Amino acid sequence: MCGIVGYTGFRQAHPILIEGLKRLEYRGYDSAGVAIQVNGHLEVVKRAGRISVLESNLRPDTLLGTCGISHTRWATHGAPNDVNAHPHLDATGRIALVHNGIIENYQALRTYLEHRGVEFKSDTDTEVLVQLVGHFYRDDLEAAVRAALRDVRGTYGIAVICSDEPGKIVAARKGSPLIIGIGDGEFVVASDAAAIIQHMTQVIYLSDGEMATVWDDGFRTTTLDALPVNKEVTELELSLEDIELGGHEHFMLKEILEQPESLADGMRGRVNVADGRIHLGGLASLARELVQTKRVILTGCGTAWHAGLVGEYLFEDLARIPTEVEYASEFRYRNPVLEPGTVVIAISQSGETADTLAALREARDKGSLVLGVVNVVGSTIARETDAGVYLHVGPEIGVASTKAYLGQVLVLTMIALYMGRRKHLSQPDLLRYLSALEALPGQIRKITQQSDDIRKVADKFKDSENWLYLGRGYNYPTALEGALKLKEISYIHAEGMPAAEMKHGPIALITKDMPVVFIAPRNSHYDKVISNIEEVRARRGRVIAVATEGDTEIAKLAEHVFYVPDVPEPLQPMLTVVPLQLLAYHAAVLRGCDVDKPRNLAKSVTVE
Ligand code: AGP
Ligand code: GLU
Repeated sequence: MCGIVGYTGFRQAHPILIEGLKRLEYRGYDSAGVAIQVNGHLEVVKRAGRISVLESNLRPDTLLGTCGISHTRWATHGAPNDVNAHPHLDATGRIALVHNGIIENYQALRTYLEHRGVEFKSDTDTEVLVQLVGHFYRDDLEAAVRAALRDVRGTYGIAVICSDEPGKIVAARKGSPLIIGIGDGEFVVASDAAAIIQHMTQVIYLSDGEMATVWDDGFRTTTLDALPVNKEVTELELSLEDIELGGHEHFMLKEILEQPESLADGMRGRVNVADGRIHLGGLASLARELVQTKRVILTGCGTAWHAGLVGEYLFEDLARIPTEVEYASEFRYRNPVLEPGTVVIAISQSGETADTLAALREARDKGSLVLGVVNVVGSTIARETDAGVYLHVGPEIGVASTKAYLGQVLVLTMIALYMGRRKHLSQPDLLRYLSALEALPGQIRKITQQSDDIRKVADKFKDSENWLYLGRGYNYPTALEGALKLKEISYIHAEGMPAAEMKHGPIALITKDMPVVFIAPRNSHYDKVISNIEEVRARRGRVIAVATEGDTEIAKLAEHVFYVPDVPEPLQPMLTVVPLQLLAYHAAVLRGCDVDKPRNLAKSVTVE
């Protein structure tokens, strides 16, 4: 899914649309376009590539108008070229539409329309939708959109305009977010709050199956079946500062460096050493039910799935609850066995990931209690879970997740402690963890101060095209996450795995040129990991280690060591990943990669 921005009001629309699209650039896209109502007709400009390409193809004097829609596309159906870019027009050229999502029955609808003489210009599923709206149009855009959506199967967030209805935007959602920003005589319709915050702070979040029609001085919200719905107007919890670079070169670096603050924000009001408790408001009403938990299933995708893997260790270790981690995409189609007493926890930064959403719906349909560990307040996953704990780490703009990962691991740690304390965890043990948690922000700051040294190491190894990341126990997920970070933004092939697994196959890859990153802080597996380091050294692999401050033994074995402070083993993942985030960041920058807009990636994946 990519970006939608629409504007209607009293100002020139196109600068607001372009500015809005730029705010959504971080989500990843391959083409962009705008459509503006100009003197009774529509002007459309769309281009493959960056928004800057679109911008340089705009002729502002031909785009004078106060109502328009725009889009950044992340191609699902049809190549990313000018023709397939949105907005798409109906056959008459009077109606323009932008769409996030997928129309699943587009082929059948296309055939139906082609038999009635409609000629298609693009290869997209989206064009079917606008042609269908055109097919139903009889002087009422809202009615035509409603009629078209009745025939459509799939997911969508859409915004539609018609040259015969000046100043009006019709929006609808099913499975792809849409927010309506409400100003004084003007409205912004967007798929992401980042495109709204500069202009207004009052918003309504459309729910699945709802539509909104906005015009220059009013709006109306209804269901797809035309029943009126009263939506609550809420204040955006976002500041412009949150979504700006603030002097940093990249959002990813900004977000890595702000982890001390974001982690402190995630703990605020929750971790309290003085009264020796964990407060999780979102779970308070379920405290009794949670004590009965017999089994936990953690689910998510990508980095969130890695956080789930840490969660598995945490829940079994601290709360003694049998726990499994499932890729959301697999869980949903596996017809999982969910007995009474199973709690499913969906982990997601965006709260919009299609696979994770489908997994939680599957769990809910089977009667499980479903909790959310989500960052974006008001997102679909947050709304569809029975209860949950927000990360509260602030908006994450970098496509490669960093501070949200730490936030996810933090929240899972707090939930594990919360549940553990209601079972076997002693008060002194809890206190020990609480004070160790409070110390983490300062310790992370100390780790990030090694950034220059980490850059030198990245420079030395940046041309190696294959890396291994190895760790055990709590730090096995760190190995996976470190490898994913490197892959995503530097396009180096990297594999993460449990250190012991190396000798069962991947050891065959080790040569005198291969960087092998060991996550080896002092803990219950330390000696075993040291043996694995020796195995790599014996084959002349290049060892880089993440180790505990003051560890002189490892300094003799590894070519480079990044140090992390000593903390209780269950909290180590929140520290050991930080040098690996910086390593991936520097490697990518040194290789000339666009860190904040990595190739082919989208910030949130709302398609299957
Ligand atoms: C993280 O760096 C990735 N871009 C990706 O794996 C991401 O974590 C995954 O798509 C899940 O996203 P979510 O947390 O928004 O659900
Ligand atoms: N499925 C549509 C297309 O490929 C929309 C993609 C998107 O969400 O950006 O054009």
